[in-house]
Amino acid sequence: MAKFLVTGGAGFIGGNFLHIMVNRYPNDEYVCLDALTYAGNMETLEPILNKPNFKFVHENICNREGVFKLFEKEHFDYVINFAAESHVDRSIEDPEIFLRTNILGTAVLMDACRKYGIKRFHQVSTDEVYGDLPLDRKDLFFTESTPLHTSSPYSASKASADLLVLAYHRTFKLPVTISRCSNNYGPYQFPEKLIPLMIQKASRDEALPVYGNGSNVRDWLYVGDHCNAIDLIVRNGKDGEVYNVGGHNEKTNLEVVKTILSALNKPETLINYVKDRPGHDLRYAIDPKKIETELGWKPEHNFKTGIAATIKWNLENTKWLHNVESGEYMNWMKKHY
Ligand code: NAD
Ligand code: TYD
Repeated sequence: MAKFLVTGGAGFIGGNFLHIMVNRYPNDEYVCLDALTYAGNMETLEPILNKPNFKFVHENICNREGVFKLFEKEHFDYVINFAAESHVDRSIEDPEIFLRTNILGTAVLMDACRKYGIKRFHQVSTDEVYGDLPLDRKDLFFTESTPLHTSSPYSASKASADLLVLAYHRTFKLPVTISRCSNNYGPYQFPEKLIPLMIQKASRDEALPVYGNGSNVRDWLYVGDHCNAIDLIVRNGKDGEVYNVGGHNEKTNLEVVKTILSALNKPETLINYVKDRPGHDLRYAIDPKKIETELGWKPEHNFKTGIAATIKWNLENTKWLHNVESGEYMNWMKKHY
């Protein structure tokens, strides 16, 4: 029996992680800490709210006093940090909150880990810390030893946090691991990110805004496969190690958008090429050899099965999406407490 703190669990990936783990490990306890920013949604946690091994705490990882009090009370064995500002376009609009949550918040959590003791602190990071690869070099992939070379305030804040995590390991011997995953998609993703946004727009016959000429490449991984990778790393990974996570599903943005249009039986004339994102990374592509050979991780979904499941979820879960779009999800705490 072990006790887990999962920060950012009311968000997209943390929420999926909790759905899987709370059911997979009924003898372990899961405490979700989340500040419920615009990206946090208690409706995502509804399927597990009444489970006896799950508890929610409304808190901000930057609030040192609140975080320390929680650690003192709960005695966590494992801390998994999903909490972050996660949207590149928002980081271009206003970088400051990215620095506070993604860097300083991570430091607060690790200071609490040092003071109260834990078996493992796991940092959920991203392949965006490696910067981008050229479009005409299909032979190149990110490995764990690719130098950090960031492009956006978001990726710079995540890379800073990664460096801090490794520094706490070296200086304070904090038992840490880091995962760097490629782009995720699946149920409960906030519809400001490419795939859920395009599904919503296409289903309503609205124009689909494609940045630049749509040739940028992302390496798409179904969210459940990312969650399983984190579970393996937390339980079996080695202290101080970084693990890349990705399933070799590289697609141009245009390919993704056309797949969605074709699945929904909508015309490609809905595609609207708009002004490119400043500093737009060209290509991400993960080499997952380390996690495959050392921990035996293998994805269950490829892009074809994952995108079908994601489109189906988005078409069937209109209440969740409607409440996000209307802002109603923000009233959850008021209505229930
Ligand atoms: P998300 O934006 O959907 O969720 C983030 C969650 O963190 C929200 O519930 C939000 O309320 C919470 N949060 C934000 N600031 C907080 C704070 N100061 N204190 C406590 N909680 C706070 O993000 P996501 O897509 O689920 O990403 C989760 C993690 O995975 C992030 O660290 C992100 O960098 C990383 N990641 C994401 C992807 C992806 O494709 N989405 C890929 C690789 C890595
Ligand atoms: P996004 O989902 O924001 O993830 P990230 O920037 O972290 O990779 O975007 C994925 C890709 O889709 C990225 O190349 C930008 C592009 N994009 C569009 O072309 N139009 C859009 O409206 C959005 C949100 C993204």
